[in-house]
Amino acid sequence: MKKLRVAVLMGGPSPERDVSVSTGRQIVTALDPERYSVLPVEITKEGKWLPRPDMLELPAGGTGSKQRGNPGGAIAHGRSGDIAPTTYDRFVEREQVDVAFIAMHGPFGEDGTMQGLLELLGIPYTGSGVLASALAMDKLRSRQIFEWHRIPVPAYLSVTADVWRDRGHVHQQVGKALGYPCVVKPNAVGSSIGVSLVRDASRLDPAIEKAFAYGPIVLIEEYIAGTEITCGIVDDPATGRPHALPLIEIVPHADFYDYDAKYATGGSDHLIPARVSDEVAARAQAIAVRAYQALGCEGMGRVDMIARAGDIVVLEINTIPGMTATSLLPDAARAAGIPFAELLDRIVRNAMRRADARPPVTPPTS
Ligand SMILES: Nc1ncnc2c1ncn2[C@@H]1O[C@H](COP(=O)(O)OP(=O)(O)O)[C@@H](O)[C@H]1O
Ligand SMILES: [Mg+2]
Repeated sequence: MKKLRVAVLMGGPSPERDVSVSTGRQIVTALDPERYSVLPVEITKEGKWLPRPDMLELPAGGTGSKQRGNPGGAIAHGRSGDIAPTTYDRFVEREQVDVAFIAMHGPFGEDGTMQGLLELLGIPYTGSGVLASALAMDKLRSRQIFEWHRIPVPAYLSVTADVWRDRGHVHQQVGKALGYPCVVKPNAVGSSIGVSLVRDASRLDPAIEKAFAYGPIVLIEEYIAGTEITCGIVDDPATGRPHALPLIEIVPHADFYDYDAKYATGGSDHLIPARVSDEVAARAQAIAVRAYQALGCEGMGRVDMIARAGDIVVLEINTIPGMTATSLLPDAARAAGIPFAELLDRIVRNAMRRADARPPVTPPTS
């Protein structure tokens, strides 16, 4: 059987670039060399595509990878002299890519833009399509859809620069509708970047200013005190039906699950199974799948939630969850008996199934 040539795309200009490279490395090292010929590609901050065959030689530096390097003789690169960054169109002309594994987080990778580019290039890709990716990245719009589906979300206010001109009014609204502590976050970043836990009104302004540095919409939310849980989802590669993985409870060693708690070794504990009743766990998994389907997610995803007395609240969906050595989706899959390489295999097979099922772009001529 001919090996599929998989380009693992990582990096990019987003603030989550470093996490993405870490996810990408992990994927490059673990993809099954019997099935795949792996081409690591770093998207530079300037948006150029840089083949990184050197990554095939390096250990990923984490757990979960089945092998080091790339045994099995996968061809990393056609012409060894061509490893300067190039434009995406030249890149795809030169390399024959069967499928792109998008290992990018945040803007320009997870938000539908890379997905749109790959659609135009006719290259199958992993994970959700353009619309679901864009919606999931936008916490406000995804929340509006969740609300329509009666999926519980935290009470929140959205603030634009225009609204923020009347700070007194915003303060009044927060006091009235949310109270303190509250949580302030940018609408469309991930990895807890720009997120603040605000304990009293005197800390609100700097938190909002900080979040505005990442985009034009800021969310202010009621603080949900409870058990933080997350539910990984992988589609069945044969049918495309979403399958909820075991819940993970996150116990951050900080006020909340901030950037360091997410990525520093020992920054948080992941408990599987989560310390919630079987009934709550089943309900959380069902809510996660509903939220995933409400946005039209595909391939894989991870739904962040908080369980508090009697009720489960959805914080967000990640369409390209982290797959670093400390990441949650690979842990959840492992707990379900799915080793990391098998998880990646399912994700790639979902991409190929979607591409095969796709109707032709040009209508048939009569
Ligand atoms: N409303 C909230 N109540 C309590 N904690 C929250 C709330 N919103 C966010 N958090 C904390 O901040 C973290 C990051 O928030 P999240 O909305 O998931 O954004 P990101 O896309 O950056 O992961 C969460 O994992 C949680 O620990
Ligand atoms: Mg999150």
